[in-house]
Amino acid sequence: MDTLIVYYSRSGSTRTVAAALARGVGGTLRELVDANARANLFAAVIAALFRRSARLVSPDYDVAAYETVVVMTPVWAGNPTPAANTFLRTVNLTGKKVLIVALGESGDNLVTSSRLEKMARDRGGQVIGVHHIHGLNSSGKAGPSATAEELQNEGGHLADLLREPEDQES
Ligand SMILES: Cc1cc2nc3c(=O)[nH]c(=O)nc-3n(C[C@H](O)[C@H](O)[C@H](O)COP(=O)(O)O)c2cc1C
Repeated sequence: MDTLIVYYSRSGSTRTVAAALARGVGGTLRELVDANARANLFAAVIAALFRRSARLVSPDYDVAAYETVVVMTPVWAGNPTPAANTFLRTVNLTGKKVLIVALGESGDNLVTSSRLEKMARDRGGQVIGVHHIHGLNSSGKAGPSATAEELQNEGGHLADLLREPEDQES
């Protein structure tokens, strides 16, 4: 089963989970690079709140070679990031299994994930799961950040979920 893992990461935690997942399933990593580094957090919040798209650097929307596409994004202001919006508004997911993964500082972000799920469905994807992962605490309000080890373990758990039963038995 060929798996593509598409992710955006501003401060590295989503990248850590994505890399561990890719190692676990032997999948291909594809980073969404926002042309805007999003150094201004207030502007980043506004962009996410208004569900803006981003201009991506060397975007690649071709998922034809993959059976499963994992879309991973941090949660910003209760929404997907602009980079994830751009990808999900452009890619053709017809016939693809799609796993959605959202990282946030405050546990489950159900509104965000239902938005992501709808976006993937609107592009033809068959959503096989939606996962929330505790990432970095950037506001100081939500307790400790996940450690690198915890993030890697989360990627490993996702890989276990994606692996086909026959792979798990071998
Ligand atoms: C601009 C901004 C807005 C955020 N808004 C939320 C939020 O609404 N809910 C939440 O749980 N986490 C929020 N976070 C925390 C991030 O989702 C969390 O730190 C995540 O692990 C970052 O992923 P990254 O390290 O891959 O960039 C926000 C972070 C930033 C920078």
